[in-house]
Amino acid sequence: MDKLVVHGGSTLKGAINISGSKNASLPILAAAILTGEDCIIRRVPDVSDTNYMIQILSALGADVERSSGTVRITCADIMDEAPYELVRRMRASICVMGPLLARKGRAVVSLPGGCVIGDRPVDLHLKGMKALGAKIEMEGGNITLTAPNGLKGAEMDLRGESGPTVLGTDNVMMAATLAEGTTIINSAAAEPEVLDLANFLNSLGAKITGAGTRRIVIEGVKELHGVEHTVIPDRIEAGTFMAAAALVGEGVTLNRVNQEHLTAITQAIVKSGHIVKFNEAGDSCFIQRGENPIGVDLNTSPYPGYPTDMQAQMTALLALTPGISVIKDSIFPQRFMHCAELKRMGADIKTDHGMAIVRGVKELSAAPVMASDLRASAALVLAALKAKGTTEISRLYHIDRGYEHIDEKLLMLGANVERVRV
Ligand code: EPU
Repeated sequence: MDKLVVHGGSTLKGAINISGSKNASLPILAAAILTGEDCIIRRVPDVSDTNYMIQILSALGADVERSSGTVRITCADIMDEAPYELVRRMRASICVMGPLLARKGRAVVSLPGGCVIGDRPVDLHLKGMKALGAKIEMEGGNITLTAPNGLKGAEMDLRGESGPTVLGTDNVMMAATLAEGTTIINSAAAEPEVLDLANFLNSLGAKITGAGTRRIVIEGVKELHGVEHTVIPDRIEAGTFMAAAALVGEGVTLNRVNQEHLTAITQAIVKSGHIVKFNEAGDSCFIQRGENPIGVDLNTSPYPGYPTDMQAQMTALLALTPGISVIKDSIFPQRFMHCAELKRMGADIKTDHGMAIVRGVKELSAAPVMASDLRASAALVLAALKAKGTTEISRLYHIDRGYEHIDEKLLMLGANVERVRV
């Protein structure tokens, strides 16, 4: 139960490297189940979520080795029941369901519980599996899917009330790689992480076209083989440091980024008056705090829209930006837990029905605050960097789920932070 002690008031300057994407790594690690051959996956961030996924794969019988950012996985022989004790810790463990079902003809996964950012159902995942011919039973909190004669390609629409589903698209895409015939996913998620998974699957020998668009076509193949793959940069980690640089930066360079993936975040930061410059290759950006920052309105939406995973961090920036900003989260309307903590630090925020109305204040003051989820904790770190005094952020394990060595990266940029073991 570490906590982060942030002495506010220092400025950020210099350069850091952005890590590989957590949300691309998780389904890619799970996809290794689809083949009995070696998969070597590079730039897997050292965060607790990827460690949970590796533990789940090991418990399923995979042979896994991790050496810094590189993970080698061999699923020569694999079991079809994912252990509840590990699965319950991370919602993304649901993405072992598709690969297990495709490889083994049976998958038993526990139903993910509620989550602080919203209900997070899996009905669309199951709709997709059913369309592929799986029989689904639920008992004792577990979902058992069976397809003893294999899965069959089908056309389906995976749109839910709030739009497409990222992990649902991933799950069905993985299952369909080994199905007989052609699968068409309409209203598919188009996030870069879905495209990275499709690229990984194609290099395993899958036949997927259209990933990165709303219509994905998968032609089933008989088997897949081993491969090496490098995960895309983490656009949310990059966005978080962009927001930090806009808040307390004196010129920060982020290397190993992907400009295209950062379009919506860049637009929001530039619109609020800051300067963002990419190099010609689009893999490095420089952020300079603007002289006259101004509030902006934001609404989260599926990619290429503004990401829900960058809502909390931008709320922290706007809490300290002159003017009124209206922030709406259409994907997870309950994802405003950070606002209560920001208010304890002096922010002027009113939340109502999936919306936050933020009136920028000149200053925040340090207070003991508690992280409630991954991105909410990042928002608290940002606020604490600017706040007057020393802020203690407890429950740091939330931030360690998805930010690789955040304290070390902040120290490299000149922040005054320390991780304290409690
Ligand atoms: N939804 C349904 N039914 C389903 C699945 C989703 O109604 O079966 C709804 C959700 O309730 C939500 C919307 O669809 O309103 C989108 O949820 P989605 O399924 O896309 O979320 P996810 O795939 O479970 C991933 C990321 C999240 C990110 C969301 C949205 C991973 C491991 N997780 O979750 O990342 O917020 O997409 O972009 O990729 C994070 O990194 O902090 C994080 C929470």
